[in-house]
Parts: sequence; C-alpha cells; structure tokens
Amino acid sequence: MSQAFTTLIPNDKIRSRISELAASISADYAGSTEDNPVLLLCTLRGAAFFAADLVRALTVPCELDFIKVHSYFDDVNPSGIPVFELGREINVTGRDVLIIEDIVDTGQTMDLVKRHYTEHGAKSVRIAALLNKPSRRLPGLKDMVDPDYSGFEIPDLFVVGWGLDFNEKYRLLPDVMVYDPDAV
Ligand code: PRP
Repeated sequence: MSQAFTTLIPNDKIRSRISELAASISADYAGSTEDNPVLLLCTLRGAAFFAADLVRALTVPCELDFIKVHSYFDDVNPSGIPVFELGREINVTGRDVLIIEDIVDTGQTMDLVKRHYTEHGAKSVRIAALLNKPSRRLPGLKDMVDPDYSGFEIPDLFVVGWGLDFNEKYRLLPDVMVYDPDAV
C-alpha cells in the first residue's frame, strides 16, 4: 500500500518563508504612499491562503483586490487557454501592481495577467508566487513570468494544500503535500 499524501513543505517552513518574502517586498516598495499604495491582486481561489498571510506581514501602504482566471482545456489547446473571469476591469493606471499567485506552472496564467495590466497602464507589474515550477514552463514564457518573489522552487510533482486543490479538495491542508490520486 502506498501513501496518497507526502509532505513536501511543512507548515512552519511556509510561514517563515512568507515572513522573508514580506520583508523583501516591503523593502522594495518602501517608496509607496497612502496616496498611491501598492495594488495587491490575489488570484482566486488558490492564492487566497498565501495572500492572507503575506498581506498581513507587509509594512508598506497597500490595497488588496481579487482577480480570477480560468483555463480551458481541449484537444486543440491541451495546455489550456486562460481567460479573465474577474478583475479584468480593475483600474491600474499609474499603479505598482503585485500579483499574488499560489503557483506558476506553465506560466500561461501569469503571462495573461502580467501583459493585461502592463498594457492597461500599470507603472509596474510584479509577481509573488508561493510555489514555482520552472520545469513546466512553456517555451517562450520563461523569463517573462518568473516570479519576482518566489517562495519555493519545486520539481514537477502534483501538489495540494495551502490553497492548492485536486478537484476542489485538499486546499485546507496545512502543509504543501505531494498527492498521488492512484495510491491505495
Ligand atoms: C492554478 C493556479 C494558478 C494556475 C497556474 O489555478 O492557482 O493560478 O493554475 O497554472 P499555469 O501557470 O499553468 O497557468 P486554477 O485554474 O487551478 O484555479 P484555482 O486557483 O481556483 O485552483
């Protein structure tokens, strides 16, 4: 009998890494003001958990809003076409935008989001991702979607927990775990 779940990154390591990321982000955005705070855009649903901890550890003026992107998979586009479901209309003109993401995988989601807000007048668009899977990146997207703030670089394993799901299950697991749905 094999195990369905194996801990990859335990809770305490995630929490301390988020504190480090928050310190870096706060230092880099030290110039932000109450009049022009950093605009934090959390991608629903998975990143809500990471965002909740990260945002509360920041020490610079910021605003939080939410976006949602859905990927459609079919035979013609097996890697999925992402489209905005929420947040396309957010006014980012002149704003420093920080996208908060749970995982950058193929990079298509962050490519769409970063290009969209850049083209709509953001002063800057950066990415903070809890997890990064660079081995999965689509050719041509490598540099463009690399997180500016990356919690953990992980190999190509299927992970759940800390916001990441399998068919909407296991998001609430307190650790990032490798999941094997075929294990019995
Ligand atoms: C997952 C994840 C990222 C995206 C990464 O979202 O949360 O947003 O996929 O994949 P990519 O780099 O290949 O584009 P999902 O659509 O599963 O939504 P969820 O956050 O609601 O689970």
